[in-house]
Amino acid sequence: MSDIHSYVLFFIIWLISTILIRALFKSTSAKPRLPPSPFALPIIGHLHLLAPIPHQAFHKLSLRYGPVFRILLGSVPSVVACSPEMAKEFLKTYENAYLDRPQNSAVAYLTYGSQDFSFAPYGSYWKFMKKIVMSQLLNGTTLDLLLPIRQDEINRFMKSLSQKAKIGKAVDLEGQLVRISNNVISRMLMSERCSENEDEAGEMKKLVKEIAEITGKFNLSDYIWIFKNLDLQGFGKRLKDIRRRFDELIERIIKEHEESRKQKSEKMDLLNILLDVAQDESMEIKLTRENIKSFILDIFAAGTDTSAITIEWALAELINHPNIMKKAVDEIDKVVGKNRLLQESDIPNLAYLQAIVKETLRLHSTGPMILRQSTEDCIVAGYHIPANTTIFINVWALGRDPNHWEDPLEFRPERFEQHNLDVRGQHFHMLPFGSGRRMCPGISLAMQVIHTTLGSMIQCFDWKAGEDGNLTSVNMEEGLGITLPRANHLICIPVARLDPIPV
Ligand code: HEM
Repeated sequence: MSDIHSYVLFFIIWLISTILIRALFKSTSAKPRLPPSPFALPIIGHLHLLAPIPHQAFHKLSLRYGPVFRILLGSVPSVVACSPEMAKEFLKTYENAYLDRPQNSAVAYLTYGSQDFSFAPYGSYWKFMKKIVMSQLLNGTTLDLLLPIRQDEINRFMKSLSQKAKIGKAVDLEGQLVRISNNVISRMLMSERCSENEDEAGEMKKLVKEIAEITGKFNLSDYIWIFKNLDLQGFGKRLKDIRRRFDELIERIIKEHEESRKQKSEKMDLLNILLDVAQDESMEIKLTRENIKSFILDIFAAGTDTSAITIEWALAELINHPNIMKKAVDEIDKVVGKNRLLQESDIPNLAYLQAIVKETLRLHSTGPMILRQSTEDCIVAGYHIPANTTIFINVWALGRDPNHWEDPLEFRPERFEQHNLDVRGQHFHMLPFGSGRRMCPGISLAMQVIHTTLGSMIQCFDWKAGEDGNLTSVNMEEGLGITLPRANHLICIPVARLDPIPV
């Protein structure tokens, strides 16, 4: 009898403990495990931790909280990924949940109520435009057809540097490189140069600068809910002014294009391709005028500063590493010779120059953070990431990850001679152009412009740093801005090596 009692007692204890353990397990497993997070302040959340330079601040936080952590930007829930493994989870393994970009009110207003491509949600309009971009606007054939524009701009740039060299005058390279990038993009887009003496295009250059400034600034009403309907920083008035001026200018340019199309005298440029697409009745989506205007804005915003600043960082690194500069110049002399200017077609034969550009993009990626927005709840690396979370992929930190790069802070192009890494989103410790479906569609154009401009600059000139040309090295501090500007403009005196002979 006592045996039966003990048996029943044992059975009841077993049953209760099983139920309790299951219930306990269920409640803990049902509770989402969010990524770790620093202590948040009321209202501003973690905004105070982003200073002075957000990608650097995130990198520091990752040393304490791990490769993925959660922050609140005011009231906007965000997650930051700082390792190649985490970048791969978001951009490849669970890519489908992270194909949108977060919206901000300045971009939405300037793009006629989010009618653009770069910030369009991943849906039928984005897919349609992506197809047009890859098959007609930025594809190999169009880029080849527009090659004379790029070569002409480089020839003009070399000639203007040559004049400075003759009188020993210092050049502010930031300004000059933004100018050549603007000219290339503007002529490819709409057959207009952005040089100062042409009114329309000069105004476009000013507008591009103002747009980069205002969209790069932190707008309190986007992040702090109590300021949602207040315009404490006076952005609204400036945005209205910028969009009105942009609209007047671009309308005029579109009308000029339409006029020359009527007379069958149109030039080959991207705006004419877009107008063809808009007129094509067989297209599944009808492009509106606002779509066209905001696409042009996208390309100016995404394609000018990025290439210019990359060239500036690359030249600064070469000035600080004379042995690397010498090796690059020797390669150019050997492959191109001394009687003609380097051309785009030489790039495949200039392996060391290619390695220099990759090393520059690794350390000074002008898209230091990739921004995405989650569209559904997802478990990533064991953490619950809710829908509508802003995702930051810290590209800058990936390029400096000591688990993937030997002596990561050293500028050493030779590392790319040993490992055949490309920049097209397959290697998650090297993502200067992003990865996956929303990767940068301007890679080929950017790489052509960067290699040819940098290559020509070091082929034709020696560079003496500083206003008086007497600095032995240049400062490599980063400044504030979304495209990783240098804290100090690179100012140098060009000294002629070869006569820039146009091809
Ligand atoms: C060094 C030069 C450049 C760098 C470092 C760069 C970097 C990037 C990065 C990191 C992204 C986000 C990718 C992602 O979310 O995975 C991006 C997107 C984009 N880039 Fe670039 N870019 C450069 C030049 C250009 C040029 C020359 C153009 C056009 C002429 C361009 C057009 C775009 C556009 C339209 C997007 C948005 C794509 C989309 O949302 O689907 N970029 N770029």
